Amino acid sequence: MKIIHTIAELRTYLTAFKHPTFVPTMGNLHAGHLALVRQAKPLGDAVVVSIFVNRLQFLPHEDFDTYPRTWEADCQALEAAGCDVLFAPSEKELYPVPQGFTIQAPTELANILEGHFRPGFFGGVCTVVMKLFSCVQPHVALFGKKDYQQLMVIRRMVQQFAMPIEIIGGTTQRSDDGLALSSRNTYLSPTERVEAVQLSLALKSMADALRAGETDVMALETRAMQALEARGWKPDYLSVRQRSNLQPPSANELAFLLANSGLVLLGAARVGNTRLIDNLEI
Ligand code: PAF
Repeated sequence: MKIIHTIAELRTYLTAFKHPTFVPTMGNLHAGHLALVRQAKPLGDAVVVSIFVNRLQFLPHEDFDTYPRTWEADCQALEAAGCDVLFAPSEKELYPVPQGFTIQAPTELANILEGHFRPGFFGGVCTVVMKLFSCVQPHVALFGKKDYQQLMVIRRMVQQFAMPIEIIGGTTQRSDDGLALSSRNTYLSPTERVEAVQLSLALKSMADALRAGETDVMALETRAMQALEARGWKPDYLSVRQRSNLQPPSANELAFLLANSGLVLLGAARVGNTRLIDNLEI
């Protein structure tokens, strides 16, 4: 595995390859990231992974400074998973001057759900992903489905800017108990780790209720939030949305969407100080 820290060296090195595939990450890699690397392997002639903790997508009170940086372990895991090129630019390399040009994601997609609770998040994500795409120039890029809204925002960005990049979503990897793998799971105390699976269970019970004929979506969402609150969680949202655009389903299309796999349940909630997200397509 070739490790590269500068854009110039990356460009020179990648001239030897016709079809690089790309997995952008912020490091602290887990089995979900490594599954994306393996999925990327047969899709091109070199798998490029980036590790860059992107300041632009963190709010001032969020965990940019404490975000786990696990360089040695990440390098070993990437090598074993078949990564060909690890691109790890410094902040000075990627943002040598303050990033004045930025991507503004459309409000109807970027100001809801995650974007509502983390204003500016998707602008920061899109800006760094656009810049990383410009450095790597991949023909395929892979993102985990756990960050469902992020995947959709990036798909739309690539579509609207007519970028010649295929965006592929990788299945969410889960622990044995069902907790979605996330870099932030390392923040959980042992008791919180046991409790953490309740977020995915809450989404499952919402799915069961819909399948059993519940038609009052708002009441269902409120009940699900209250059930988590009763266990000591602080939920931001537990929401029933249309898969196609992440808008709430109207009452008269709910049954049709349910019968045609057109819904996704999305949740974000804090257990202790750790904010977890998860989703379930139904
Ligand atoms: O999902 C992530 O890890 C980040 O949002 C990404 C896509 C690497 C951009 O910084």
